[in-house]
Amino acid sequence: RSVAVIMVGGPTKGTRFRPLSFNVPKPLFPLAGQPMVHHPISACKSISNLVQIYLIGFYEEREFALYVSSISSELKVPVRYLREDKPHGSAGGLYTFRDIIMEESPLQIFLLNCDVCCSFPLTGMLEAHKRYGGIGTMLVSKVVAESANQFGELVADPDTKELLHYTEKPETFVSDLINCGVYIFTPDIFTAIQDVSMHRKDRANLRRVSSFEALQSATKSLPTDFVRLDQDILSPLAGKRQLYTYETVDFWEQIKTPGMSLKCSGLYLNQYRYTSPHLLAVGDGTKSAAVIGNVYIHPSAKVHPTTKIGPNVSISANARIGAGARLINCIVLDDVEIKENAVVMHAIVGWKSSVGKWSRVQGEGDYDSKLGITILGEAVTVEDEVVVINSIVLPNKVLNISVQEEIIL
Ligand code: GDD
Repeated sequence: RSVAVIMVGGPTKGTRFRPLSFNVPKPLFPLAGQPMVHHPISACKSISNLVQIYLIGFYEEREFALYVSSISSELKVPVRYLREDKPHGSAGGLYTFRDIIMEESPLQIFLLNCDVCCSFPLTGMLEAHKRYGGIGTMLVSKVVAESANQFGELVADPDTKELLHYTEKPETFVSDLINCGVYIFTPDIFTAIQDVSMHRKDRANLRRVSSFEALQSATKSLPTDFVRLDQDILSPLAGKRQLYTYETVDFWEQIKTPGMSLKCSGLYLNQYRYTSPHLLAVGDGTKSAAVIGNVYIHPSAKVHPTTKIGPNVSISANARIGAGARLINCIVLDDVEIKENAVVMHAIVGWKSSVGKWSRVQGEGDYDSKLGITILGEAVTVEDEVVVINSIVLPNKVLNISVQEEIIL
């Protein structure tokens, strides 16, 4: 028996995702037409004997209620949201709900970060995990050396795949092999987390009885129930024959910013070719719009047959796309109206926004830079014949003049 746990964080975590996280918790922001967290959840379908999926976070319960009930019936596996009263860190959050998780007596606990985009090769990982016989197996991937310091860097034994050394976001280069944020643990992980927090309690008590100077440093240290999976668990357990690695050569990205969500939406659309081709639009520009490459269109959206759409376009519920519009590499959210002959390119158009006739909303398509894509927040109105380039527009603004490289507050 297995259970899966998806760490969804909370409102203080998704700040780099603004202005899109004003409306919806980051884990529910749609990528390729499905909430971000939906992709790891549906990957869990491949786990045999999966009895329960938990989402752990510190968002309000009601924010996840609707999603959790609809996905439970769709998957036919119960999905439950467990709310922490405050952040406990990535391992502390898991530990908080150990009793509930262990009710199912799982042999394996799959633990997935919600903000990573990959093919989640969970069955291959599980086979490897059983072979290794450790308490945990983590998914790892090679990235370009210059970007490795944004992640946990690690060294693994080339033959046994044992995790030999682990450093979280190091200042000096350690390795281009990084932690993907996808793990399988045995229930022994709970003992490892408990050890860290006991050790902290002991140290805090020691400090309390010693000098004033030590007291000062105690106030700086973390609360005993705040435990980070990476620094506090993976680093100390490396090289002790307890943790092993499983390398993916498939795509892998982290989703911290709106720019990366646009890139990852494209990666998931591409994955639909293999996993859910029925979700991809087809069209030849006669009865329906001309479709180029991978495109998702929600069944309730109204798209004029003279539009040209793609590649990498996702159109959400009740959007209306007028005659002659051209959409390239963009996410169009619920209830958006794109009027006749408008162009939207390298952009995210927020809920209920409207883009006027002959207007252009576009970015240069650099996912890594802050103004590399254009983002319209909720209910933004771009009037007719207005050009918005490389800009971020906060909710409820009306643009009647063209702007470039601006953040409109
Ligand atoms: N429930 C809950 N409570 N979730 C949390 C908490 C918490 O207190 N803190 C973080 N998370 C969730 C986040 O939502 C995310 O899904 C995951 O745990 C990891 O978040 P962070 O601890 O902020 O780390 P990170 O995303 O910067 O980096 C981690 O993931 C990378 C892969 O994406 C590290 O493990 C890196 O080493 C790794 O490369």
